[in-house]
Amino acid sequence: MSKLLWQKQGVAIDADIQAFLAGDDVILDREFIAYDIRASRAHAEGLQRIGILTREELDGITRELDVLADDVASGAFVLDARWEDMHSAIEDRLTERLGDAGKKIHTGRSRNDQVLVATRLWLKDRLDEVATLCIAVAGIALERAQAERDLPMPGYTHLQRAVVSSAGMWWAGWAEAFIDNAQRARATRDWVDANPLGTAAGYGVNLPLDRDHTTAALGFARMQVSPLYAQLSRGKFELAALESLGSAMLDLRRIAWDLSLFTSAEFSFVSLPAQYTTGSSIMPNKRNPDVIELMRAAYASVAAAKVEIEQLMSLPSGYHRDLQFGKGGLVHGFLRGLGALRLLPALLQALEWKPARMRAALEPSMYATDLAVDLARQGMPFRDAYREAANPQRWAEGDPSASLAARVSPGGAGNDGLQILQERLADLASRAG
Ligand code: ARG
Repeated sequence: MSKLLWQKQGVAIDADIQAFLAGDDVILDREFIAYDIRASRAHAEGLQRIGILTREELDGITRELDVLADDVASGAFVLDARWEDMHSAIEDRLTERLGDAGKKIHTGRSRNDQVLVATRLWLKDRLDEVATLCIAVAGIALERAQAERDLPMPGYTHLQRAVVSSAGMWWAGWAEAFIDNAQRARATRDWVDANPLGTAAGYGVNLPLDRDHTTAALGFARMQVSPLYAQLSRGKFELAALESLGSAMLDLRRIAWDLSLFTSAEFSFVSLPAQYTTGSSIMPNKRNPDVIELMRAAYASVAAAKVEIEQLMSLPSGYHRDLQFGKGGLVHGFLRGLGALRLLPALLQALEWKPARMRAALEPSMYATDLAVDLARQGMPFRDAYREAANPQRWAEGDPSASLAARVSPGGAGNDGLQILQERLADLASRAG
Protein backbone atom coordinates (compact mmCIF):
# COMPACT_ATOMS: atom_id res chain seq x y z
CA MET A 1 0.00 0.00 0.00
CA SER A 2 1.25 3.47 -0.81
CA LYS A 3 1.88 5.70 2.17
CA LEU A 4 -1.28 6.21 4.22
CA LEU A 5 -2.59 9.76 4.36
CA TRP A 6 -2.69 9.65 8.13
CA GLN A 7 0.45 7.63 8.81
CA LYS A 8 2.38 8.66 11.95
CA GLN A 9 6.07 8.27 12.48
CA GLY A 10 6.97 5.39 14.74
CA VAL A 11 3.60 3.63 14.44
CA ALA A 12 3.95 0.41 12.52
CA ILE A 13 1.29 -0.61 10.01
CA ASP A 14 0.04 -4.16 10.46
CA ALA A 15 -0.80 -5.77 7.13
CA ASP A 16 -3.64 -7.93 8.47
CA ILE A 17 -5.26 -5.04 10.27
CA GLN A 18 -4.89 -2.83 7.23
CA ALA A 19 -6.40 -5.50 4.99
CA PHE A 20 -9.37 -5.75 7.34
CA LEU A 21 -9.83 -1.98 7.35
CA ALA A 22 -9.45 -1.37 3.65
CA GLY A 23 -9.47 -4.79 1.92
CA ASP A 24 -12.64 -5.01 -0.15
CA ASP A 25 -13.56 -1.39 0.44
CA VAL A 26 -10.96 -0.01 -1.92
CA ILE A 27 -12.16 -2.47 -4.57
CA LEU A 28 -15.76 -1.35 -4.03
CA ASP A 29 -14.55 2.22 -4.46
CA ARG A 30 -14.13 1.40 -8.16
CA GLU A 31 -17.90 1.96 -8.39
CA PHE A 32 -17.60 5.41 -6.87
CA ILE A 33 -14.25 6.85 -7.96
CA ALA A 34 -15.62 8.67 -11.02
CA TYR A 35 -17.99 10.51 -8.72
CA ASP A 36 -15.24 11.26 -6.19
CA ILE A 37 -13.21 12.78 -9.03
CA ARG A 38 -16.16 14.96 -10.08
CA ALA A 39 -16.68 16.11 -6.52
CA SER A 40 -12.94 16.81 -6.16
CA ARG A 41 -13.12 19.09 -9.17
CA ALA A 42 -16.03 21.03 -7.66
CA HIS A 43 -14.24 21.23 -4.31
CA ALA A 44 -11.09 22.60 -5.97
CA GLU A 45 -13.16 25.22 -7.80
CA GLY A 46 -14.66 26.21 -4.46
CA LEU A 47 -11.19 26.50 -2.92
CA GLN A 48 -10.04 28.76 -5.74
CA ARG A 49 -13.09 30.96 -5.23
CA ILE A 50 -12.11 31.61 -1.61
CA GLY A 51 -8.44 32.15 -2.37
CA ILE A 52 -7.00 28.86 -1.11
CA LEU A 53 -5.90 27.83 -4.59
CA THR A 54 -4.54 30.09 -7.31
CA ARG A 55 -6.05 30.02 -10.78
CA GLU A 56 -3.00 28.11 -12.03
CA GLU A 57 -3.25 25.56 -9.24
CA LEU A 58 -6.92 25.03 -10.01
CA ASP A 59 -6.20 24.66 -13.72
CA GLY A 60 -3.56 22.02 -12.97
CA ILE A 61 -5.87 20.15 -10.62
CA THR A 62 -8.76 20.27 -13.08
CA ARG A 63 -6.56 19.04 -15.89
CA GLU A 64 -5.14 16.17 -13.84
CA LEU A 65 -8.57 15.17 -12.56
CA ASP A 66 -9.80 15.03 -16.16
CA VAL A 67 -6.85 12.85 -17.12
CA LEU A 68 -7.50 10.59 -14.14
CA ALA A 69 -11.19 10.34 -15.04
CA ASP A 70 -10.24 9.31 -18.58
CA ASP A 71 -7.72 6.79 -17.25
CA VAL A 72 -10.34 5.30 -14.95
CA ALA A 73 -12.84 5.07 -17.81
CA SER A 74 -10.34 3.49 -20.21
CA GLY A 75 -8.94 1.09 -17.63
CA ALA A 76 -5.48 2.69 -17.78
CA PHE A 77 -5.88 3.44 -14.08
CA VAL A 78 -7.10 0.60 -11.86
CA LEU A 79 -7.91 1.23 -8.23
CA ASP A 80 -6.54 -1.53 -6.00
CA ALA A 81 -4.97 -2.32 -2.65
CA ARG A 82 -1.99 -0.08 -3.37
CA TRP A 83 -4.23 2.57 -1.82
CA GLU A 84 -6.35 2.62 1.29
CA ASP A 85 -9.31 4.02 -0.62
CA MET A 86 -10.29 6.06 -3.68
CA HIS A 87 -9.85 9.30 -1.76
CA SER A 88 -6.18 8.52 -1.08
CA ALA A 89 -5.65 7.43 -4.68
CA ILE A 90 -6.97 10.71 -6.05
CA GLU A 91 -4.90 12.85 -3.70
CA ASP A 92 -1.86 10.69 -4.37
CA ARG A 93 -2.18 11.15 -8.12
CA LEU A 94 -2.60 14.93 -7.83
CA THR A 95 0.38 15.24 -5.51
CA GLU A 96 2.54 13.05 -7.70
CA ARG A 97 1.70 15.10 -10.80
CA LEU A 98 1.39 18.59 -9.31
CA GLY A 99 3.34 18.69 -6.06
CA ASP A 100 2.08 21.38 -3.67
CA ALA A 101 -1.16 22.04 -5.57
CA GLY A 102 -2.06 18.39 -5.08
CA LYS A 103 -1.23 18.60 -1.42
CA LYS A 104 -3.70 21.48 -1.09
CA ILE A 105 -6.78 19.67 -2.42
CA HIS A 106 -7.78 18.29 0.96
CA THR A 107 -8.07 21.74 2.54
CA GLY A 108 -11.45 22.00 4.21
CA ARG A 109 -12.66 18.54 3.37
CA SER A 110 -12.65 15.14 4.99
CA ARG A 111 -12.99 11.66 3.60
CA ASN A 112 -16.22 11.66 5.59
CA ASP A 113 -17.89 14.21 3.34
CA GLN A 114 -16.07 12.84 0.28
CA VAL A 115 -17.56 9.39 0.63
CA LEU A 116 -20.95 10.94 1.27
CA VAL A 117 -20.91 13.09 -1.84
CA ALA A 118 -19.59 10.32 -4.09
CA THR A 119 -22.25 7.91 -2.86
CA ARG A 120 -24.92 10.56 -3.20
CA LEU A 121 -24.07 11.24 -6.85
CA TRP A 122 -23.96 7.48 -7.50
CA LEU A 123 -27.39 7.03 -5.93
CA LYS A 124 -28.89 9.77 -8.07
CA ASP A 125 -27.66 8.10 -11.26
CA ARG A 126 -28.89 4.69 -10.14
CA LEU A 127 -32.32 6.05 -9.24
CA ASP A 128 -32.52 7.79 -12.61
CA GLU A 129 -31.91 4.45 -14.26
CA VAL A 130 -34.54 2.75 -12.10
CA ALA A 131 -37.06 5.43 -13.13
CA THR A 132 -36.16 5.17 -16.81
CA LEU A 133 -36.48 1.39 -16.79
CA CYS A 134 -39.79 1.54 -14.95
CA ILE A 135 -41.09 3.99 -17.53
CA ALA A 136 -39.99 1.62 -20.32
CA VAL A 137 -41.71 -1.32 -18.64
CA ALA A 138 -44.89 0.68 -18.10
CA GLY A 139 -44.85 1.79 -21.74
CA ILE A 140 -44.65 -1.75 -23.08
CA ALA A 141 -47.25 -3.02 -20.61
CA LEU A 142 -49.62 -0.24 -21.55
CA GLU A 143 -49.20 -0.81 -25.26
CA ARG A 144 -49.87 -4.51 -24.85
CA ALA A 145 -52.82 -3.78 -22.54
CA GLN A 146 -54.38 -1.85 -25.42
CA ALA A 147 -53.52 -4.42 -28.07
CA GLU A 148 -54.65 -7.42 -26.01
CA ARG A 149 -57.78 -5.98 -24.46
CA ASP A 150 -59.95 -8.71 -25.90
CA LEU A 151 -57.78 -11.72 -25.21
CA PRO A 152 -59.58 -13.67 -22.49
CA MET A 153 -57.77 -15.57 -19.77
CA PRO A 154 -58.70 -16.81 -16.33
CA GLY A 155 -58.49 -14.43 -13.40
CA TYR A 156 -57.23 -16.21 -10.30
CA THR A 157 -57.51 -15.62 -6.60
CA HIS A 158 -55.68 -18.05 -4.30
CA LEU A 159 -54.44 -19.55 -7.59
CA GLN A 160 -57.98 -20.91 -8.06
CA ARG A 161 -60.00 -20.07 -11.14
CA ALA A 162 -62.18 -17.12 -10.15
CA VAL A 163 -63.59 -14.96 -12.94
CA VAL A 164 -62.97 -14.25 -16.59
CA SER A 165 -60.11 -11.82 -17.04
CA SER A 166 -58.01 -10.75 -20.01
CA ALA A 167 -54.43 -10.35 -21.04
CA GLY A 168 -55.27 -6.64 -21.23
CA MET A 169 -56.18 -6.56 -17.53
CA TRP A 170 -53.00 -8.44 -16.67
CA TRP A 171 -50.90 -5.93 -18.58
CA ALA A 172 -52.75 -2.92 -17.17
CA GLY A 173 -51.88 -4.08 -13.66
CA TRP A 174 -48.17 -4.02 -14.40
CA ALA A 175 -48.46 -0.76 -16.33
CA GLU A 176 -49.92 1.06 -13.35
CA ALA A 177 -47.51 -0.64 -10.94
CA PHE A 178 -44.49 0.51 -12.93
CA ILE A 179 -45.83 4.03 -13.33
CA ASP A 180 -45.97 4.15 -9.53
CA ASN A 181 -42.52 2.60 -9.26
CA ALA A 182 -41.09 5.18 -11.63
CA GLN A 183 -42.75 7.94 -9.66
CA ARG A 184 -41.28 6.59 -6.46
CA ALA A 185 -37.79 6.38 -7.92
CA ARG A 186 -38.10 9.98 -9.12
CA ALA A 187 -39.39 11.14 -5.74
CA THR A 188 -36.54 9.36 -3.96
CA ARG A 189 -34.04 10.83 -6.38
CA ASP A 190 -35.40 14.27 -5.47
CA TRP A 191 -35.31 13.40 -1.77
CA VAL A 192 -31.63 12.44 -1.82
CA ASP A 193 -30.69 15.34 -4.11
CA ALA A 194 -28.82 17.21 -1.38
CA ASN A 195 -25.14 18.16 -1.32
CA PRO A 196 -23.12 16.96 1.68
CA LEU A 197 -19.77 18.23 0.30
CA GLY A 198 -18.34 20.97 2.45
CA THR A 199 -19.50 19.52 5.77
CA ALA A 200 -16.00 18.06 6.27
CA ALA A 201 -15.69 15.57 9.11
CA GLY A 202 -19.21 16.38 10.28
CA TYR A 203 -18.69 19.67 12.10
CA GLY A 204 -17.86 22.24 9.41
CA VAL A 205 -14.50 24.02 9.07
CA ASN A 206 -13.01 27.42 9.80
CA LEU A 207 -13.16 28.50 6.15
CA PRO A 208 -15.94 30.25 4.20
CA LEU A 209 -16.30 27.28 1.81
CA ASP A 210 -18.35 28.12 -1.27
CA ARG A 211 -20.93 25.42 -0.79
CA ASP A 212 -23.40 27.13 -3.11
CA HIS A 213 -20.88 26.73 -5.88
CA THR A 214 -20.24 23.03 -5.26
CA THR A 215 -23.98 22.43 -4.96
CA ALA A 216 -24.63 24.01 -8.36
CA ALA A 217 -21.52 22.58 -10.02
CA LEU A 218 -22.46 19.03 -9.03
CA GLY A 219 -26.07 19.51 -10.07
CA PHE A 220 -27.60 19.13 -6.64
CA ALA A 221 -31.01 20.65 -6.00
CA ARG A 222 -30.10 21.78 -2.50
CA MET A 223 -27.37 21.90 0.11
CA GLN A 224 -27.41 19.66 3.13
CA VAL A 225 -26.99 22.43 5.63
CA SER A 226 -26.22 20.76 8.92
CA PRO A 227 -22.90 18.92 8.94
CA LEU A 228 -24.25 16.59 11.59
CA TYR A 229 -27.27 15.79 9.49
CA ALA A 230 -25.06 15.12 6.48
CA GLN A 231 -23.45 12.34 8.52
CA LEU A 232 -26.79 11.17 9.90
CA SER A 233 -28.10 10.78 6.35
CA ARG A 234 -25.45 8.21 5.46
CA GLY A 235 -27.25 4.90 5.28
CA LYS A 236 -30.62 6.57 5.60
CA PHE A 237 -30.55 7.79 2.00
CA GLU A 238 -29.08 4.50 0.80
CA LEU A 239 -31.97 2.71 2.48
CA ALA A 240 -34.50 4.99 0.78
CA ALA A 241 -32.90 4.26 -2.60
CA LEU A 242 -33.00 0.52 -1.95
CA GLU A 243 -36.64 0.82 -0.89
CA SER A 244 -37.38 2.52 -4.16
CA LEU A 245 -35.56 -0.08 -6.19
CA GLY A 246 -37.21 -2.72 -4.01
CA SER A 247 -40.66 -1.50 -4.87
CA ALA A 248 -39.99 -2.16 -8.56
CA MET A 249 -38.32 -5.45 -7.69
CA LEU A 250 -41.31 -6.67 -5.70
CA ASP A 251 -43.45 -6.25 -8.81
CA LEU A 252 -40.78 -7.77 -11.01
CA ARG A 253 -40.67 -10.77 -8.69
CA ARG A 254 -44.41 -11.29 -9.09
CA ILE A 255 -44.24 -10.96 -12.87
CA ALA A 256 -41.50 -13.59 -12.82
CA TRP A 257 -43.69 -15.80 -10.64
CA ASP A 258 -46.62 -15.46 -13.04
CA LEU A 259 -44.40 -16.27 -15.98
CA SER A 260 -42.84 -19.29 -14.33
CA LEU A 261 -46.36 -20.62 -13.78
CA PHE A 262 -47.70 -19.54 -17.16
CA THR A 263 -44.80 -21.14 -19.06
CA SER A 264 -45.20 -24.47 -17.23
CA ALA A 265 -46.88 -27.32 -19.11
CA GLU A 266 -49.70 -27.25 -16.54
CA PHE A 267 -50.73 -23.73 -17.52
CA SER A 268 -49.02 -23.30 -20.86
CA PHE A 269 -50.47 -19.82 -21.39
CA VAL A 270 -47.21 -18.22 -22.42
CA SER A 271 -44.19 -19.02 -24.51
CA LEU A 272 -40.88 -17.21 -24.34
CA PRO A 273 -38.12 -17.09 -26.93
CA ALA A 274 -35.57 -19.86 -26.44
CA GLN A 275 -32.88 -17.48 -25.24
CA TYR A 276 -34.77 -17.02 -21.98
CA THR A 277 -34.42 -20.71 -21.17
CA THR A 278 -31.50 -23.00 -20.56
CA GLY A 279 -31.06 -26.74 -20.94
CA SER A 280 -30.47 -29.37 -18.29
CA SER A 281 -27.12 -31.12 -17.94
CA ILE A 282 -28.82 -34.48 -17.41
CA MET A 283 -32.39 -34.29 -18.69
CA PRO A 284 -32.24 -33.91 -22.46
CA ASN A 285 -35.93 -33.00 -22.64
CA LYS A 286 -35.71 -29.91 -20.44
CA ARG A 287 -35.94 -26.21 -21.23
CA ASN A 288 -35.81 -24.36 -17.95
CA PRO A 289 -36.88 -20.76 -17.32
CA ASP A 290 -33.67 -19.87 -15.48
CA VAL A 291 -33.72 -16.24 -16.55
CA ILE A 292 -37.12 -15.70 -14.99
CA GLU A 293 -36.01 -17.50 -11.85
CA LEU A 294 -32.92 -15.36 -11.36
CA MET A 295 -34.99 -12.27 -12.02
CA ARG A 296 -37.31 -13.45 -9.27
CA ALA A 297 -34.34 -14.13 -6.98
CA ALA A 298 -32.79 -10.70 -7.45
CA TYR A 299 -35.10 -9.17 -4.88
CA ALA A 300 -33.29 -11.18 -2.21
CA SER A 301 -30.13 -9.15 -2.79
CA VAL A 302 -32.04 -5.89 -2.51
CA ALA A 303 -33.70 -7.04 0.69
CA ALA A 304 -30.37 -8.23 2.10
CA ALA A 305 -28.76 -4.86 1.42
CA LYS A 306 -31.57 -3.08 3.22
CA VAL A 307 -31.21 -5.29 6.27
CA GLU A 308 -27.43 -4.95 6.32
CA ILE A 309 -27.47 -1.16 6.13
CA GLU A 310 -30.25 -0.88 8.69
CA GLN A 311 -28.23 -3.03 11.09
CA LEU A 312 -25.13 -0.90 10.57
CA MET A 313 -27.02 2.28 11.38
CA SER A 314 -27.44 1.52 15.06
CA LEU A 315 -24.90 4.19 16.01
CA PRO A 316 -24.52 7.42 17.94
CA SER A 317 -24.36 10.61 15.87
CA GLY A 318 -21.17 11.55 14.02
CA TYR A 319 -19.06 9.53 11.60
CA HIS A 320 -18.31 5.90 12.38
CA ARG A 321 -16.32 3.53 10.23
CA ASP A 322 -19.08 0.92 10.63
CA LEU A 323 -20.95 2.58 7.79
CA GLN A 324 -18.24 1.62 5.32
CA PHE A 325 -19.62 -1.93 5.43
CA GLY A 326 -22.86 -0.68 3.89
CA LYS A 327 -21.14 -0.08 0.55
CA GLY A 328 -20.90 -3.75 -0.42
CA GLY A 329 -24.59 -4.45 0.10
CA LEU A 330 -25.58 -1.27 -1.66
CA VAL A 331 -23.49 -2.02 -4.75
CA HIS A 332 -24.51 -5.66 -4.83
CA GLY A 333 -28.20 -4.89 -4.31
CA PHE A 334 -28.23 -2.37 -7.16
CA LEU A 335 -26.14 -4.65 -9.38
CA ARG A 336 -28.62 -7.50 -9.00
CA GLY A 337 -31.71 -5.32 -8.99
CA LEU A 338 -30.80 -3.23 -12.01
CA GLY A 339 -29.47 -6.34 -13.75
CA ALA A 340 -32.91 -7.92 -13.52
CA LEU A 341 -34.81 -4.73 -14.25
CA ARG A 342 -32.76 -4.08 -17.39
CA LEU A 343 -33.92 -7.39 -18.87
CA LEU A 344 -37.58 -6.80 -18.14
CA PRO A 345 -38.64 -4.54 -21.04
CA ALA A 346 -37.38 -6.93 -23.74
CA LEU A 347 -38.76 -9.94 -21.90
CA LEU A 348 -42.23 -8.40 -21.73
CA GLN A 349 -42.03 -7.40 -25.36
CA ALA A 350 -41.12 -10.94 -26.38
CA LEU A 351 -43.75 -12.78 -24.36
CA GLU A 352 -46.26 -14.62 -26.53
CA TRP A 353 -49.66 -15.75 -25.34
CA LYS A 354 -51.25 -19.04 -26.25
CA PRO A 355 -54.88 -17.93 -26.66
CA ALA A 356 -56.37 -21.41 -27.15
CA ARG A 357 -54.91 -22.65 -23.87
CA MET A 358 -56.09 -19.55 -22.01
CA ARG A 359 -59.56 -19.95 -23.45
CA ALA A 360 -59.64 -23.64 -22.55
CA ALA A 361 -58.95 -22.76 -18.92
CA LEU A 362 -62.19 -20.80 -18.67
CA GLU A 363 -65.05 -22.80 -17.21
CA PRO A 364 -68.77 -22.15 -16.59
CA SER A 365 -68.31 -21.52 -12.86
CA MET A 366 -66.30 -18.43 -13.74
CA TYR A 367 -69.45 -16.59 -14.82
CA ALA A 368 -71.18 -17.12 -11.45
CA THR A 369 -70.10 -13.73 -10.12
CA ASP A 370 -71.38 -12.00 -13.27
CA LEU A 371 -74.70 -13.79 -12.77
CA ALA A 372 -75.01 -12.82 -9.10
CA VAL A 373 -74.31 -9.18 -9.90
CA ASP A 374 -76.74 -9.29 -12.86
CA LEU A 375 -79.52 -10.57 -10.62
CA ALA A 376 -78.70 -7.93 -8.02
CA ARG A 377 -78.82 -5.23 -10.69
CA GLN A 378 -82.30 -6.44 -11.58
CA GLY A 379 -83.34 -5.82 -7.95
CA MET A 380 -82.69 -9.07 -6.09
CA PRO A 381 -80.87 -8.50 -2.76
CA PHE A 382 -77.26 -9.42 -3.41
CA ARG A 383 -77.11 -12.14 -0.73
CA ASP A 384 -80.05 -13.93 -2.36
CA ALA A 385 -78.57 -13.46 -5.81
CA TYR A 386 -75.31 -14.90 -4.52
CA ARG A 387 -77.11 -18.05 -3.33
CA GLU A 388 -78.96 -18.38 -6.59
CA ALA A 389 -75.77 -18.02 -8.62
CA ALA A 390 -73.98 -20.54 -6.40
CA ASN A 391 -76.19 -23.29 -7.81
CA PRO A 392 -74.10 -25.19 -10.40
CA GLN A 393 -77.28 -25.81 -12.37
CA ARG A 394 -77.32 -22.11 -13.19
CA TRP A 395 -73.82 -22.32 -14.67
CA ALA A 396 -73.41 -22.54 -18.40
CA GLU A 397 -70.72 -22.00 -20.94
CA GLY A 398 -70.47 -18.21 -21.19
CA ASP A 399 -69.15 -15.71 -23.65
CA PRO A 400 -65.86 -14.37 -22.31
CA SER A 401 -65.94 -11.30 -24.54
CA ALA A 402 -69.41 -10.37 -23.32
CA SER A 403 -68.32 -10.90 -19.71
CA LEU A 404 -65.32 -8.62 -20.25
CA ALA A 405 -67.32 -5.98 -22.10
CA ALA A 406 -69.86 -5.86 -19.29
CA ARG A 407 -67.17 -5.23 -16.64
CA VAL A 408 -67.86 -1.49 -16.70
CA SER A 409 -66.70 -0.54 -13.22
CA PRO A 410 -63.85 1.97 -13.73
CA GLY A 411 -60.69 -0.06 -14.26
CA GLY A 412 -62.70 -3.15 -15.28
CA ALA A 413 -62.16 -4.66 -18.74
CA GLY A 414 -65.21 -2.83 -20.17
CA ASN A 415 -64.03 0.54 -18.86
CA ASP A 416 -60.33 -0.02 -18.45
CA GLY A 417 -59.17 3.59 -18.07
CA LEU A 418 -56.01 2.98 -20.06
CA GLN A 419 -56.28 6.58 -21.23
CA ILE A 420 -55.77 7.72 -17.62
CA LEU A 421 -52.66 5.57 -17.31
CA GLN A 422 -51.46 6.82 -20.68
CA GLU A 423 -51.70 10.41 -19.45
CA ARG A 424 -49.88 9.64 -16.21
CA LEU A 425 -47.12 7.89 -18.08
CA ALA A 426 -46.76 10.67 -20.65
CA ASP A 427 -46.56 13.19 -17.84
CA LEU A 428 -43.82 11.21 -16.10
CA ALA A 429 -41.87 10.63 -19.29
CA SER A 430 -42.04 14.28 -20.31
CA ARG A 431 -40.49 15.49 -17.05
CA ALA A 432 -36.72 15.50 -17.25
CA GLY A 433 -35.03 12.46 -15.71
N1 ARG B 1 -13.88 4.18 3.35
C1 ARG B 1 -14.36 5.09 4.33
C2 ARG B 1 -15.88 4.94 4.47
O1 ARG B 1 -16.48 4.39 3.60
C3 ARG B 1 -14.03 6.48 3.93
C4 ARG B 1 -14.12 7.46 5.02
C5 ARG B 1 -12.99 7.26 5.99
N2 ARG B 1 -13.09 8.18 7.03
C6 ARG B 1 -12.46 8.00 8.19
N3 ARG B 1 -12.62 8.92 9.09
N4 ARG B 1 -11.75 6.96 8.42
O2 ARG B 1 -16.43 5.35 5.43
